[in-house]
Amino acid sequence: MKLNLDISVPSSQEWIDAVMSDFDAFLQDHADCERKASAMAMSFVAKYPDRIEIIPELIETGVEELEHFQQVYALMASRGIQLQHSIGEDIYMKQLIKKCHSGREERFMDRLLIASVVETRGAERFKLVAEAQTDPELAKFYKTLWVSEAKHGHIFVKMALNYFEKETVYERLAWWVAQEGEIINGLDIRPALH
Ligand SMILES: [Fe+2]
Ligand SMILES: [Fe+2]
Repeated sequence: MKLNLDISVPSSQEWIDAVMSDFDAFLQDHADCERKASAMAMSFVAKYPDRIEIIPELIETGVEELEHFQQVYALMASRGIQLQHSIGEDIYMKQLIKKCHSGREERFMDRLLIASVVETRGAERFKLVAEAQTDPELAKFYKTLWVSEAKHGHIFVKMALNYFEKETVYERLAWWVAQEGEIINGLDIRPALH
């Protein structure tokens, strides 16, 4: 299944350097991102209880993200790192959501496609983290995550294809991929996923 593997702007060397220079801070942010990804999948279930075709996959995705959170937290705990006390504003997600259509149907499609582009970016960045790791255990862990997030990138497009014409979905997805590239390019470089 290859539905979305596109990113318009590859992550920079500067970004991976920032991550590797403070990996403890990256882990703290990463854990929060996994927890938020789980909550996002479950928020679709809460907001769209009538979309019964996608609810089982949404629940499954929510569980997988929560498992990622569990795994990252275990890694943090073993290194004596705590979760962040206050979670800063998620500028990346905020900027993406600001660009959503306001109509109910269009917004539903946009939210699914945003989820897809965010997952695809996660996959791209976890791949870079896996490749930069010198610790074989961490390299293996991030490789597993990269595969899993790439799968999620496909799943959300597949969900959209249940309800909207293929052409409409792919045209809008291409637009979102371009928007996401601009947004990620404009973010400050930090040891964080976005
Ligand atoms: Fe995840
Ligand atoms: Fe994911």
